[in-house]
Amino acid sequence: MARPLRVDDAGVDWRGARVLVRCDLNVPLEGGRIADHARIRASLPTLRYLLKQGAGLGVCSHLGRPKGEVVPELSLAPVAEWLARELRPVDLLDESVGPEVRARAQALRPGEVVMLENLRFHAGEEQNDPGFADQLAAGFSHYVDDAFGAAHRAHASTEAVARRLPARAGFLLAREVEAIGGLLAEPASPFVAVLGGAKVSDKLPLIGSLLSRCDRVLVGGAMMFTFLAGLGDPVGDSRHEGPEAQGRARRLLEEAGRLNCTLQLPVDVLVADRFAEDARLAVYGSDSIPDGGIGVDIGPRSSASFREAIEGASTVFWNGPMGAFETAPFAAGTRVVAEAMADADAVTVVGGGDSGAAVAQFGLTDRFTHVSTGGGAALEMLEGRMLPGVAALPVA
Ligand code: 3PG
Repeated sequence: MARPLRVDDAGVDWRGARVLVRCDLNVPLEGGRIADHARIRASLPTLRYLLKQGAGLGVCSHLGRPKGEVVPELSLAPVAEWLARELRPVDLLDESVGPEVRARAQALRPGEVVMLENLRFHAGEEQNDPGFADQLAAGFSHYVDDAFGAAHRAHASTEAVARRLPARAGFLLAREVEAIGGLLAEPASPFVAVLGGAKVSDKLPLIGSLLSRCDRVLVGGAMMFTFLAGLGDPVGDSRHEGPEAQGRARRLLEEAGRLNCTLQLPVDVLVADRFAEDARLAVYGSDSIPDGGIGVDIGPRSSASFREAIEGASTVFWNGPMGAFETAPFAAGTRVVAEAMADADAVTVVGGGDSGAAVAQFGLTDRFTHVSTGGGAALEMLEGRMLPGVAALPVA
């Protein structure tokens, strides 16, 4: 796959450039405070590089889903404050487009940073509106896209604007494309995927794509109960989907057989009598979950077998926790997978979202080849789809 041209590839002199930098600063907020800084931190190398090269920056992002309305709670103010502490003074503008933004963009001096207000306060952003993209580009001399987490969205700031200014990929976007592209291109075999999370129906295209690429797909998380129900096993009160999704799960098992891929379900399950920290817990075979029991994690025999499969792999991709890991007594299976991957002598890639959060919670992020910052974008790319935000960038 052709790689997008990066900020440090030859051809652009950044001295005196006035650069519109699209980051994915869509961070979780709790009571107006940033609950997880990982995405902002991951954006810093590109911002620092451009500043060091003598550019002035207009940093832009979306935050949440305000749907074209100004929602004060979704202002980028907390993000601008954090960036100002980490980087240098950051002036947050009231708007993302308009005469004031244009004037500030035109007057940007080397080393200066302004931040545009939440792009999604304008409907034109999500509509990929050409007029909105023209306004966004106004006053800037270059565009840098480092927003991998939003690259699956064909929005004005990720797609249309890239066609209006000389464009480059930031370091984060380039690294993500390389890591996930590597899984698509020539993953070293054995290639094992570990999948969890709630719904089979959300991940059908991903599972389909992985079955044709992987030697083994390990299934945990709540989606295992849809598979088990599809096989006619009792699942008690465990979270699972209805007959249609169960039918699909059955067909995936058949397809795996045809494709010579082992789709491995847990052999045992940790069952709680209620969903609480102090619940009574017991391990059952995955074909004998009792009435009223709630499956909350894969069981110890399954964990051991998943660990063994990961230890024997040369490439491992993981998406979705094995159980309800946010509740401490239900975290063992997810921890085993995270530790096995951290210890593995293999290329290890985590597809962001909850599994990325789990890896961070266990303090293991640095021991993976790559932990994606983009949940949805990483999965769409791994399904084999071209991401509009990547497709719009010039290639090397
Ligand atoms: C994300 O958090 O996955 C990205 O920032 C994209 O956000 P969206 O799903 O609201 O487009």
